[in-house]
Amino acid sequence: MKLSPVNKLPADVHRRQFLAAGAFAIISPLAVWSLSPAAALTGYTKTISALKRGVMAETAAHRRYVLFARLAKADGYKGLAYLYMALADSELIHAENYNRILVKLGEFPVEPEIRGIPAGNAKENLIFAAEREVDSIEKTYPTLLKSMGSEGYHDAISVIRYSWSSHKQHRDIIKRIRRWSPSAFEMVARKIDEKTDRYYICRICGSTVTRLPREACPVCGEPPLSYRLVSPDQFL
Ligand SMILES: [Fe+2]
Ligand SMILES: [Fe+2]
Repeated sequence: MKLSPVNKLPADVHRRQFLAAGAFAIISPLAVWSLSPAAALTGYTKTISALKRGVMAETAAHRRYVLFARLAKADGYKGLAYLYMALADSELIHAENYNRILVKLGEFPVEPEIRGIPAGNAKENLIFAAEREVDSIEKTYPTLLKSMGSEGYHDAISVIRYSWSSHKQHRDIIKRIRRWSPSAFEMVARKIDEKTDRYYICRICGSTVTRLPREACPVCGEPPLSYRLVSPDQFL
């Protein structure tokens, strides 16, 4: 699925997107500026490079989902908007995790600027989101892990694996919707509006669930207290 540039979006969304570009051109500024590099560690050049590429990819995904959420909301698809907001929150945690490890390795956190995010109509965006999730599971994370070679920096491997696992959750959530949507998108999208799930995100790993785990996060193993309920307006 190839999407068009955002210049065909409704004027109101355009305006808000422009404003947001100023506010969120860098990821979570407070989180980034609170990080100060530790003494540089040597021997982790491949790991550092992989983490930097990871921040770029996660930040792009975060911005894309925020945009999809705004568009869905503008078109009246409240349920889809809330889903995208949850996914955007998860992506932000992935990016922040990599930046935290970069700092441990003596690097400054990466503050990527993401421009020209493509978007289409509600149905196209949902299909695109599903395709990108599958792509990240099959290509992005295996490639990142492989590119670190034998450097074996445990914390870096852990956070990338956290992201990989939570993307499988994203894929499964979208799949449940997409299973019905090719032939009856409108009906399904409206049904989601009527019966919207609650989304919870683990602040440690970005795990994305619709019911709180009873004992521990299925991805990172932390207690359920590590989860936060996503607000439908979180990034608006
Ligand atoms: Fe991610
Ligand atoms: Fe977790």
